[in-house]
Amino acid sequence: MTYREQIAQHIDRFPKMPPLCRSLLGYLEDPDVDFKTIRDLVQYDPGLTANVLKLANSVYFGPAQEISSLQAALVRLGTRRIFELVLSLTVSGRLVTELPGYGLAGRDLLRHSIWTAVAAQELARILQMKNVDTVFTVGLLHDLGLLLLDPFIAEERERFTHIFEDRRLPFDQAEKEVLGMDHAEAGAKILELWQLGPEIVAGVRWHHEPDGAAEFQDLIYLIHLADMLSLSEGIGTGIYGLQFNVSAEPVRALGLKKEHLEYTASKTLDKMRELENILT
Ligand SMILES: [Fe+2]
Ligand SMILES: [Fe+2]
Repeated sequence: MTYREQIAQHIDRFPKMPPLCRSLLGYLEDPDVDFKTIRDLVQYDPGLTANVLKLANSVYFGPAQEISSLQAALVRLGTRRIFELVLSLTVSGRLVTELPGYGLAGRDLLRHSIWTAVAAQELARILQMKNVDTVFTVGLLHDLGLLLLDPFIAEERERFTHIFEDRRLPFDQAEKEVLGMDHAEAGAKILELWQLGPEIVAGVRWHHEPDGAAEFQDLIYLIHLADMLSLSEGIGTGIYGLQFNVSAEPVRALGLKKEHLEYTASKTLDKMRELENILT
């Protein structure tokens, strides 16, 4: 069996979307949604309720006034945000795991994912972009595929080491060459199975090939930049340094300046630390 076929089997066996997220997904497109119904779904889980309130009041989501009731938090955040928030709270636990293949310690992937999500959101804010609602979620999920590919990377350590030391190939290309699939495609396939919608799937799928996407270009550019910025700050680089091609197109197309990137990098660390405490 080829690696690609083995990875496909792992994708099928990957845990399904958490049931609460699945229930919430059904309400996303409903403009007349009753928040009491959503509250009843969420409050069933006291830990989650506490975290929804914490997150709703955090610097990141930060409304001006402190929110103390769950329903008020839900109304303030809206269904899309609630869904993203519940998804973030449930998926983030899975990101806390050691990945020996990539050489990432227990919390490295979570930190890298949060850093990327926060930075992408910050860049969207600086650029006053309105059409990128899912940017935080995509940032958080963008490297989900690492969880799947890690055992195969570990198995093929010698070939990967040779590729990086002698040929200096970008990491996603090395994954494609050795395993027949890179982590971006693997992650996107999981999210497709979770029926998360084409925008989130595309954001994850193209985060290392931002010029290859046919749709959702702005979102993909933001994630690519935030991800590269995160690696350049040394957040989640692992043993191979996770060397990727950096596309020049996103910076040009979005009209970003060097100061924007520096400002974002300087803002992101504190927010990452705050969210890290809430999300796990
Ligand atoms: Fe990646
Ligand atoms: Fe990444």
